[in-house]
Amino acid sequence: MKIIGTGRSHPSLVVTNDMLSQILDTSDEWITTRTGIKERRVISTENLEDLSIDAAKKALADANMDAKDLDYIICANVVNEYICPAMSCIIQGAIGATCPCFDLNGACVGFIYALEIAESFYRSGKYKNILVVCAEEPSRMVNWHDRTASVLFGDGAGAVVLTEGDNIKATKMSASCNWDRLYQKHELQYSPFNKKPNSNLPLVMHGQDVFKFATRAAIKDISHVMKETGYQPDEIKHYLIHQANLRIINNIKEYLNQPDEKFPLNIQKYGNTSSASLPILLDETNKEGRLQRGDLIVMSAFGSGFVSGACILEW
Ligand code: ACO
Repeated sequence: MKIIGTGRSHPSLVVTNDMLSQILDTSDEWITTRTGIKERRVISTENLEDLSIDAAKKALADANMDAKDLDYIICANVVNEYICPAMSCIIQGAIGATCPCFDLNGACVGFIYALEIAESFYRSGKYKNILVVCAEEPSRMVNWHDRTASVLFGDGAGAVVLTEGDNIKATKMSASCNWDRLYQKHELQYSPFNKKPNSNLPLVMHGQDVFKFATRAAIKDISHVMKETGYQPDEIKHYLIHQANLRIINNIKEYLNQPDEKFPLNIQKYGNTSSASLPILLDETNKEGRLQRGDLIVMSAFGSGFVSGACILEW
């Protein structure tokens, strides 16, 4: 497949580190030096579905495609206000599409999962035009009294339109179960039969373990797709890395021995927007005119599970 359109949408509320230091025992200095984040967008009055629909419409406009011509919609999402129906179905109705759709929960790796699935759908010969929307609202998951996790995340949505082509050169997905390092459980509704205690907890994160996993997994996945395609690090024009922590991105950059300008960043503005991180970064890089047709792009993401993935595509 190839990407022919990109779009993104952000909540209007900007929450700066200084605003957080008024409600938490933290500081702009701590958050900036440990993570690279200066501010993030957080849902206040909007709904995540509104951001998803907005991002989808922008990607379709960018691709110059009518929603009726879509053959499938995939939405990557960890949590939103609905447990059902799927977010993809809400998007389908709002944009006027008539195709089938489903949601996937690949944590922060949702975009790369969606690209790999779209590519195999296309190869099956059944579907040609696929809309991928990654929409995330981690502000719904974190405990805003917990300074260790709440400062890291932001909300947002990113979307791409895919059609027939030969631009996805390689994908590599990985999983290594360490679920208790980063997780959240659903609240149990009242049941007269279920005898287990309710486990309504906010997001639990062992940051240092996640940090080590993320760095190792990203390097391993990127090395895998490079080896599979035979491309050398110097031949890649852009490295789009999941915007979770600037120090993780710097470790990957050092390993690959590549210059700063190949690593677009927006973590300072948006924090970690989970699966939306990569399509938001891709759209920003695209709209800034930094992508030329033929450029080789590596994308890499990692998240709760642990799961990780990387891909190489030609723009
Ligand atoms: N402000 C001030 N101090 C803080 C804060 C905060 N927001 N959070 C923690 N601290 C304190 C800790 O309590 C600790 O204090 P102590 O030394 O008195 O015990 C000190 O800062 C150092 O804490 P560490 O956890 O050792 O700090 P570290 O350098 O590891 O940075 C961080 C923490 C930023 C969370 C880092 O581990 C990290 O980024 N990990 C990866 C997290 C991540 O990317 N998660 C999501 C990835 S997957 C996905 O996207 C869903």
